[in-house]
Amino acid sequence: NGESLVLGIESSCDDTGVAVVRASDGAILGQAITGQVDIHAPWGGVVPKLAQEAHGRAMQSTVQAALQQAGISEEQLDGVAVTIGPGLSLCLQVGVHQARRMAGQHSLKYIPVHHMEAHALIARAGTAVAFPFLCLLVSGGHNMLVVVEGVGSYTLLGSTLDDAVGEAFDKVARLLGLQLDPSGGAAVEALAREGDDQRFRFSRPLVRKPNCNFSYAGLKTAVRLAINAELKGPPSEADRQMRADIAASFQRVALEHLEDRVARAAGWALEEWPGIKHLVVAGGVAANQLLRSKLQALAEKQGLELAVPPPKLCTDNGVMVAWAGIERMRLGLWEHLPAHDAAAEEE
Ligand code: KG4
Ligand code: ZN
Repeated sequence: NGESLVLGIESSCDDTGVAVVRASDGAILGQAITGQVDIHAPWGGVVPKLAQEAHGRAMQSTVQAALQQAGISEEQLDGVAVTIGPGLSLCLQVGVHQARRMAGQHSLKYIPVHHMEAHALIARAGTAVAFPFLCLLVSGGHNMLVVVEGVGSYTLLGSTLDDAVGEAFDKVARLLGLQLDPSGGAAVEALAREGDDQRFRFSRPLVRKPNCNFSYAGLKTAVRLAINAELKGPPSEADRQMRADIAASFQRVALEHLEDRVARAAGWALEEWPGIKHLVVAGGVAANQLLRSKLQALAEKQGLELAVPPPKLCTDNGVMVAWAGIERMRLGLWEHLPAHDAAAEEE
């Protein structure tokens, strides 16, 4: 029927994400995701070896689930896109192996994708977001402001000097004894709704640095000290309000820092690239509703339109990889794998 379909595979961290996306309009025909929260929870962080094994167990069934939802088989695909980095190399290998096997076996286009590019480009799927655009990437591992001039063409305006904002949310969630499933960030945001965000006056990071960089290590330490001073032992109903106040105060300052940097970046970027029309927010932290509403106001003030993908497409997923693959495929940025390569992958 001539419809070009691309399968995307994401396995850079602790989610096995697979999706089938239609090239013509970005329609999601099938998507499946297998998480690993339970596996890593006892260790307080993602354990690469365990993550690799879990990807290995989940890969085949997750691919099949996405294909089944789309109602197609492997050979009806036009291409296979896969995250090749950055991420945990043990985990990336699992996805790359799967993608190469499929591409080799059925002569499909093989499309290597950069994880952060996938986060940034998904905002363009079925929308009016055009190049160049300003993009705030905020996840558990990354925290940066970039001008996206085109596929594979970026100007970095600033990044974090220490922790990423999502990492700070995750650490605060752990310190407050919150549930980490589906994410520490979501738990902090939920508890913060009940809290007084002015109770603790944590200082805003890098106030005297007029650039677009980020820092969350100091704020994290300040929160830890407040928790040690105010909370005794495991969470109880009696100290719930205090926990909520800490969560709300942390979130206020963490988001003020983002706003502050985005405002400066927008000023810089619009001077250099007057054609910028959109502020795109990508990565897991973009799921934060308070951040969305604050950036909405900020964008309006700067004459920009805010574009935030739906929460399910903000956290790691296969759809964004498939879409980035489609954008690359359109530009001829794909590889044909020799058949003997596919045979080698089979061993
Ligand atoms: O993009 P992502 O799924 O994975 C990485 O590449 O890191 O982002 C996950 C991060 C986690 O740190 C998680 O706590 C954070 O996104 N996050 C949030 C929220 N939902 C997820 N942070 C703040 N508020 C949220 N609602
Ligand atoms: Zn990510």
